[in-house]
Amino acid sequence: MPEYSAPRGTRDVLPSESAKWQYVESKFRDICHIYGYRELRTPTFEHTELFTRNLGETTDVVSKEMYTFEDRGGRSITLKPEGTAPAIRAYVEHNLGAGLPVAKLYYITRVFRYERPQAGRYREHTQLGVEAIGSLDPALDAEVISLAARFYSSIGIRDLQLKLNSIGCPKCRPAYRQALVDFAKTRVDNLCPTCQIRCELNPLRMFDCKSPECQELLANAPVLLDYLGEECRAHFESVQAYLQDLSVQYNLDPRLVRGFDYYTKTAFEFVSGELGAQNAIGGGGRYDNLVEELGGAPTPAIGFGIGLERVMAVLEKLGVDLPADSSLAVFVAVVGEAARRPAVRLVSDLRMAGISTDTDYTNRSLKSQMKLADRLGARFVVILGETEAASSTVVLRDMATSEQIMVPLANLSTTIYTRLQKKAE
Ligand code: HAM
Repeated sequence: MPEYSAPRGTRDVLPSESAKWQYVESKFRDICHIYGYRELRTPTFEHTELFTRNLGETTDVVSKEMYTFEDRGGRSITLKPEGTAPAIRAYVEHNLGAGLPVAKLYYITRVFRYERPQAGRYREHTQLGVEAIGSLDPALDAEVISLAARFYSSIGIRDLQLKLNSIGCPKCRPAYRQALVDFAKTRVDNLCPTCQIRCELNPLRMFDCKSPECQELLANAPVLLDYLGEECRAHFESVQAYLQDLSVQYNLDPRLVRGFDYYTKTAFEFVSGELGAQNAIGGGGRYDNLVEELGGAPTPAIGFGIGLERVMAVLEKLGVDLPADSSLAVFVAVVGEAARRPAVRLVSDLRMAGISTDTDYTNRSLKSQMKLADRLGARFVVILGETEAASSTVVLRDMATSEQIMVPLANLSTTIYTRLQKKAE
């Protein structure tokens, strides 16, 4: 066993996997640009109050999962446990809505939650997210949801279920809350101790409970959909109509509440049959009051976060072959001391020509340099010995066909370039 290992709940993305991660991230960026979203990068940590005041004190994330510490200046700091509150903090702080009716932001960010690690659940994970801030139009809900759907299908994930619900607004919620409490109170002894407290403080959070007894009991509880006011109902119907127009399939799930208190109206989650217990591969919803709660003008908004680690796990399970290639175009094998300096120049020239190139720095024999080239996945090996250096000609070996030709140094990059193009066709 090595002396050090990565902390529990974290993972390394190794060089053998990282090209796939980059491919998926770049697909997400491309699609965000196609939909008119621009990137926002926010700090890894924020002032703790940003989260304690705005995500909901009784949520699992705030009550037991945050990485909070005092910095050397005595300030309470928290590692980002989600991306929405920081994005809205930045939106208000930098007045990102100025001159833009809808600010459309996307991000790729690390997120930290002290959860019990298990398959698909990490203490540090990566979220691909968007936030569209400035409109109540249900067409924007459909845009955001369809952007996520398009992203999944663009990378080959097509069998997801989209769960859709509306959790109303502060106007519809009091009547529902009362109905839910009345229902739960008659069965309070059967609720777990945490849900007994949730029932008093924040009854909607009972739906977050993992206990099978509580789940079973809540299966017959009243649902918010039956208590929606006129405005929320019309909004929800309109979101569904737009989704149908955009051919986005969904299933209504009246028990979907999402894990933060800031949500209003539309709530959604994409779930995968490939993921086991942690089956949510992405989720989001509207949060029409958060901008105002963070000190901005009243501004409705909607967004989502997609778990990148879970996306990668599903791709692996499905055996999707991504067109992500990190292999090398050229390996320059050097034979003899006199070829060393010309080789260093040659490697540099090929790289300047935009051809990915590597060489050996450990004085290996030609045979083991060839093996190394093979291990690095090089498509060509250029062999440069003392005679070649003197005659300004090199041996170019095609690793796939084993064909070897002599090429004058002056034509080398063009020859390689042309052959690479041919292979790509
Ligand atoms: P969330 O549902 O808490 O929402 O997280 C979004 C996604 O992140 C989940 O669907 C899941 O794929 C992934 N995820 C969450 N926790 C973990 C974990 N411990 N390990 C691995 N993956 C995880 C939010 O965070 C909201 N801020 C999303 C949002 C944006 N809503 C509106 N705008």
